[in-house]
Amino acid sequence: MSEVPVFQVSAASIRKASRDLASGQLVVFPTETVYGLGADATNESAVQSIFDAKGRPSVNPLICHIGDIEQLPLIAQVSDKALSLARLFWPGPLTLVLKQAEDCRVSRIATAALPTIAVRIPGHNAALELLRTFGGPVVAPSANTSGKISPTQADHVHLINPENVSMILDDGPCAIGLESTIVSLVEDKPILLRTGGVTKEELEEVIGSIQVDTATSATPSAPGQLESHYAPRATVRLNAKGADDGEAFLGFGPLGNIRSAHSLNLSPKGDLAEAATNLYAYLRALDETDCSTIAVAPIPNRGVGNAINDRLRRASAHRPTKGS
Ligand code: TXA
Ligand code: MG
Repeated sequence: MSEVPVFQVSAASIRKASRDLASGQLVVFPTETVYGLGADATNESAVQSIFDAKGRPSVNPLICHIGDIEQLPLIAQVSDKALSLARLFWPGPLTLVLKQAEDCRVSRIATAALPTIAVRIPGHNAALELLRTFGGPVVAPSANTSGKISPTQADHVHLINPENVSMILDDGPCAIGLESTIVSLVEDKPILLRTGGVTKEELEEVIGSIQVDTATSATPSAPGQLESHYAPRATVRLNAKGADDGEAFLGFGPLGNIRSAHSLNLSPKGDLAEAATNLYAYLRALDETDCSTIAVAPIPNRGVGNAINDRLRRASAHRPTKGS
């Protein structure tokens, strides 16, 4: 997005980002998961311009980012389970969906008029410094056009309408590379709405059994569940042993000879965390070749491999239409 100025992270650029948020502008900032498109959560018109910048449906609520756990009771009703998870996993790649606090000042546009709110404290130094300097809640979806691959580095940020975006704060590639895990604590029984950097098993060790959301793409309870949410241009073929003619290949672990002009390996040593970090950038790179299909090697379904396979399934559910 050449039209939006990029600033390397520094004390001065963080102060500017905080001032821009306070004046109602949008700021792209790094987190440990993906780059976010931030706005002052209490500023109705700034929040509206997030939806405009992404082409995001208004029914899809945003995650509220805070810099300090002290801010949590100002926006959400805090249960024991919420506190246990927050104490253990924040700052980090976990989003909690809670009932809103009675006097929550977050814009109703941000929460899509729901009585609940999604909150997280990101595990990223520059993001924390920005949030603490700003001093209030910042809503931030991933800084991509709605339905496209999330950006894990500053030059992958893409928005259909960047008009109100004042700057991109650049701190290099995101360490985790997949969006946060989302768990809803609104009902008695916790529900996993999206898998991510924190695994279901890790959460269950703290709060007991968690139900996996079974909403379909027709009735998503978190729109991250829309079937073709992480959509490259090319079709995606899963569990591939190799590449057919005209296919690009996305490998994992030690590989034999791959017959493709375009081949990348998510982690030659078979490390799932490394594969997660590389996933979006490599999908994007292969999508920019002339391939019609990206063939993807099997990824083990354990730990963060679950989240990788979740994103790959959604990418493969996408069937591009002519000219898309
Ligand atoms: O890692 C992340 O979470 C990144 C970084 C920037 O923090 N953000 C991110 O935001 O992935 P976004 O907008 O791409 O995804 C937010 C997800 C959506 O699936 C949305 O439906 C869900 O959070 N969500 C937000 N508020 C909710 C609520 N009250 N109830 C259920 N789901 C909610
Ligand atoms: Mg997103």
